[in-house]
Amino acid sequence: MLKKWKKKKRKLLAIALASGLMLSGVNIDLALASNANSNSPATVTQQGVEQQQVPQLVDAASIDAVIAAMTLQEKAAMVVGANTVSIDPVNGEIIGGQSRKVPGAAGQTQSIPRLGIPAIVLADGPMGVRIDPTRPGTDQTFHATKFPSPNVLASTWDTELVNDVGVATADELKAYGIDLLLAPGMNIQSYLLNGRNYEYFSEDPLVTGIMTAEFVNGVQDNGVGTTIKHFAAYNQRELNNGNMNVSQRALREIYLKGFEIAVKESDPWAIMDSYNAINGTYATENKDLLTSVLREDWGFNGFAMTDWENGNNRDIVKQIMAGTNLFMPGNLDQVNRIMDAVKDGNLNEKYLDRNIKEILNIVVQTPTFKGHVATNSPDLEAGAKLARQAAADGMVLLKNEAKALPLKGDMSVSLFGTPNIETMTGGRGSALVYAPYQIGIPEGLQNSGLMINEELLAKYETYVEELRATDEYKQTPGNFFVSTFPTLPEMDVTEEAVAAAENTDVGIIVLSTEFGTYGSDRSKNDFYLSESKLKMIEDVSAAYREQGKPVIAILNVEGPLETASWEDKVDGIVLGWQPGQELGNAVADVLTGKVNPSGKLPQTFPVDYAELPYADRYPGVNNEFTYEEDIYVGYRYNTTFGLEPAYEFGYGLSYTTFDYDKVRVNRNGQFKDRITVFATVENTGEVAGREAVQVYVSAPDGKLEKPELELKAFTKTKELEPGKKENLKFDLDLKDIASFDEEKSAWIVEKGTYEVLVGASSTDIRGTASFKIEKDMVVETVNDVLAPQIEIDRLSKLN
Ligand code: BGC
Repeated sequence: MLKKWKKKKRKLLAIALASGLMLSGVNIDLALASNANSNSPATVTQQGVEQQQVPQLVDAASIDAVIAAMTLQEKAAMVVGANTVSIDPVNGEIIGGQSRKVPGAAGQTQSIPRLGIPAIVLADGPMGVRIDPTRPGTDQTFHATKFPSPNVLASTWDTELVNDVGVATADELKAYGIDLLLAPGMNIQSYLLNGRNYEYFSEDPLVTGIMTAEFVNGVQDNGVGTTIKHFAAYNQRELNNGNMNVSQRALREIYLKGFEIAVKESDPWAIMDSYNAINGTYATENKDLLTSVLREDWGFNGFAMTDWENGNNRDIVKQIMAGTNLFMPGNLDQVNRIMDAVKDGNLNEKYLDRNIKEILNIVVQTPTFKGHVATNSPDLEAGAKLARQAAADGMVLLKNEAKALPLKGDMSVSLFGTPNIETMTGGRGSALVYAPYQIGIPEGLQNSGLMINEELLAKYETYVEELRATDEYKQTPGNFFVSTFPTLPEMDVTEEAVAAAENTDVGIIVLSTEFGTYGSDRSKNDFYLSESKLKMIEDVSAAYREQGKPVIAILNVEGPLETASWEDKVDGIVLGWQPGQELGNAVADVLTGKVNPSGKLPQTFPVDYAELPYADRYPGVNNEFTYEEDIYVGYRYNTTFGLEPAYEFGYGLSYTTFDYDKVRVNRNGQFKDRITVFATVENTGEVAGREAVQVYVSAPDGKLEKPELELKAFTKTKELEPGKKENLKFDLDLKDIASFDEEKSAWIVEKGTYEVLVGASSTDIRGTASFKIEKDMVVETVNDVLAPQIEIDRLSKLN
């Protein structure tokens, strides 16, 4: 009889595997156990079979008993992802990878049906849900909305909108049966050429932390998890596994600060350790980072996973003890190493138990565990609408001479630049989302009713097609990490520009950064425009100026590029980013004024790469890089050391203008445990618009030197009609204005006068107030960990 049941169970599993769906362990064990809701072992009889019931994972309270019932092999497997290794539910043997529940999802955890533990599914981020768009044996497509990347979302300065994108992402995750998103990325954009900066929000930790928390709350309030990544100091791609030497102060104030805010404000289900080492210890092996800071200082409640393939060549015992819960995507060798370590007495099983408990605490909250069934039909129309709004709101108007923009609806337009033909909506590597469609700029402008110079566009089409057919520029199959899409030189438009300027009202030049590789950093050349691009700008500018007509540049880029040498040749510049599937429509919305631009820069656009404080050091040598600029990252450097950027942090124009008034603080500037900053913003222009308002604080130097100013709060007004005002209010508490004192290992506030600067950008300050701190104060003492192992030659304004 027992044999017969086992056979039946095997058959059931075979069907499940064949259908590409692993039967959740709960189902099978429900069939086995008469009392599946109880986790206490009992002897039951079912179908005449004597069966010793094992504890079942039914809720958080059942976890301890479930862990106690696990074999060592099950424990070892439970902390190893199931992509290439899993436990045979029938005979308990270790076998090859579990069948993938969602094709194209990056990973899956172990299912242990015997204990009622289902596999949960993990998929990338951060531009939407990354899964395969097709599946064998069906014509159905599995597309997902390609939302704007975090740098575009941050450019909106609109926390509600970012939350909405989180909610919409959660809907798509649920529709596809995914439990945990491997996003958002939230490293600091401290180094301009980092090839993954587009996956991150900002050079500023407050913007990064708040935007991450909004996104995470949007997703998780809807029952799906997020994984904030990559923890920590993963600010370049070149030395992916390199050692990053960073001072404790720069870590706490810049590189960890965003993570701290996100953990405290949104309780993410998971965190992904970075590949690199910090001050001599790999992130995955770093107990100071994963336990002392993450869990003890901040109270993190989720679990930590390695980045992909990262756990392989690290010390597995050290990683487990440090607080890395899950090795992704997982392999057999890891399972064996863990089992050996326990058997040899090198790993106390209690660490394994602790780590499993933290994983299962999350498993019981997942849609899969709760029996949610994938519909495979997300609301892509709703996604597209939101993606378009977020893309347009994230676009930044950098220049608008003589009100060249917005364009009138019936204008005729000539489009210059190969990116008009090869659409760059962004998204590579983990951000490679298979969207149902992508709207290029010509299509978007056409959709908006503008008349396009078709003849010129056709010439570009032929030009691109012919070049791509040559050996030099042909595309060869790339992979996840490497793009083999050589950047095209621009077409010579000396003659075309003259004709176009005679026949059309406006010239639009689209400029892109290179097709990125994701596996490496951007090249320095990618910051500067090529000769052929500069010549195109010259030619178009000369021709249109001759006719007294405007030229607009659209920057279809993933990060800053050089603008200072050519910006006087154009009348308007729109930073369109590479904002996902709705690129063309969103660009058109901004150009035509359907959307009044309200985006502002979350990252400084420097005049020249060479003037950046790390230009001669980045990306480091011998697998080592030292963060010598210390806390002076981005605008903190520019404002403190008097360096004029091309476009400063927080900058962005509008088709209307805003006045700032009544900037003041309460309590006559006496700070108790908090202070409130007030400002009134009025739309003084002719069209409705929104303004991103920024509150900076300039703290007095004391024992610690301080940057000239630091962002401490921000908001975005509602849509203000001309003449309308909004009263704004920002609360600052002691922690908000504290600096990190390494000697005390504490956040401290030093006595003196603090300037409050309310502005439209980091240099366009519109109103000031001040408050006093009467005595030095320790706000919070934290673990004294993560000290550098070498002497760092730190940049200081006192030298
Ligand atoms: C990336 C992660 C990503 C993972 C899974 C890694 O190469 O660094 O950001 O989530 O792959 O695709």
